[in-house]
Amino acid sequence: MDSTENRSTIRDISLAPQGERKIDWVANHMPVLNALRAEFEKEQPFAGKRAVICLHLEAKTAYLARTIRAGGAEVAVAASNPLSTQDDVVAALVQRGIEAHAWHGATDAEYRRHIQQALDFEPDYIIDDGGDLVTTIHRERRELLTRVKGGAEETTTGILRLRAMDRDGELGFPMIAVNDAECKYLFDNRYGTGQSVWDGIMRTTNLVVAGKTVVVAGYGWCGKGVALRAKGLGARIIVCEVNAIKANEAWMDGFEVMPMLEAAQVGDVFITVTGNRDIIRAQHFEVMKSGAILCNAGHFDVEVNRVELAALASSQRVVRPNIEEFVFSDGRKVYLLAEGRLVNLAAGDGHPAEVMDMTFALQALSLRYLAEHGAELGQHVYRVPEEIDQTVANLRLSSLGLRIDALTPEQKAYLAAWHE
Ligand SMILES: NC(=O)c1ccc[n+]([C@@H]2O[C@H](COP(=O)([O-])OP(=O)(O)OC[C@H]3O[C@@H](n4cnc5c(N)ncnc54)[C@H](O)[C@@H]3O)[C@@H](O)[C@H]2O)c1
Repeated sequence: MDSTENRSTIRDISLAPQGERKIDWVANHMPVLNALRAEFEKEQPFAGKRAVICLHLEAKTAYLARTIRAGGAEVAVAASNPLSTQDDVVAALVQRGIEAHAWHGATDAEYRRHIQQALDFEPDYIIDDGGDLVTTIHRERRELLTRVKGGAEETTTGILRLRAMDRDGELGFPMIAVNDAECKYLFDNRYGTGQSVWDGIMRTTNLVVAGKTVVVAGYGWCGKGVALRAKGLGARIIVCEVNAIKANEAWMDGFEVMPMLEAAQVGDVFITVTGNRDIIRAQHFEVMKSGAILCNAGHFDVEVNRVELAALASSQRVVRPNIEEFVFSDGRKVYLLAEGRLVNLAAGDGHPAEVMDMTFALQALSLRYLAEHGAELGQHVYRVPEEIDQTVANLRLSSLGLRIDALTPEQKAYLAAWHE
């Protein structure tokens, strides 16, 4: 048995050929990452270094892991969510020399153990999604604080946690906030989440969207995408917000705005995407119409309060894969998708490959930036450097065969002057 396989904790290595085909498919739709991979193969920016990647373990992530490896790093992966891991993709990674600790449907204890096992790899660099890797290092594996030279964080929720650690002086190495790059949130959070959430809901329920009343909680970058695509599918949309500016924006975008307690009484489909907890809770379940469908697209499974839902229900059962039915004593039924975890990943394949191409190009370039400049950085959260954002945007345009104008010297001077 190959030694990477020996060191890995996966379900079934014989699934590798199927995973390989999935990775081939997405690689053909990730031209930006392909260009970087060619550069990395030549320049070997990570030679002699180790990287641990903790992301949703599906085909696009696998291709990122291979790109980092092509740059000379040894790579290990763990999952950032127990339901989004695809066992065939993980097997394909292991077969080609990337250590993996993950399987689909891991229990909480297994999920935490897998992260620990990935950390035994003793990384120089990390890529995290939601902050579980970083918090595990800081709480339970403090010996690694001197080893890890830096990392990059994928999502809004993880960056919130990192900024809190930075504010308290607790962050032990530099972290780059990939989510806050324009090439990330404008495309991944908005168009990626917008499309893949509906893909997840539609393939799971096999129900029509047109004519339904869809309630979107949270009108941030993800919520805007989810609402925009719901509109395209013919739904009526209600937005719930706590931020008055975002609520005005939703209204001007043509959506109804109201508190969740009112929306709960009229909604057919509910999607939470706030990064906050208890958005839909007992008082809301109590007034919902029978047949309401609930799901979450925020990072953690805390947005729909499943404990309160189960406590209110007199019975519950699984009616289709990824659909739980909760029956209340008055006969009403509500349905929860994917256990309230990210519906687009736990009940789908996540964002489209072309969108993740940009996000993962930012990840790969952020890691290269850390390899080249990490020693100059302090133990803080950093923005993705502007040149990296521009590089990704330009590579994406050229992969599309699109060209744009450039400022003339006169225009540059005009924009820089104050006295004319
Ligand atoms: N599903 C995915 O693939 C995916 C992709 C990217 C980000 N995310 C996650 O989605 C979540 C949202 O990300 P974002 O980038 O849109 O964040 P954001 O900060 O842009 O937006 C969040 C919005 O939720 C609102 N909000 C907070 N508490 C609320 C409450 N109690 N009721 C109603 N609205 C409330 C905020 O005012 C804000 O407008 C995060 O957890 C993020 O990590 C998921």
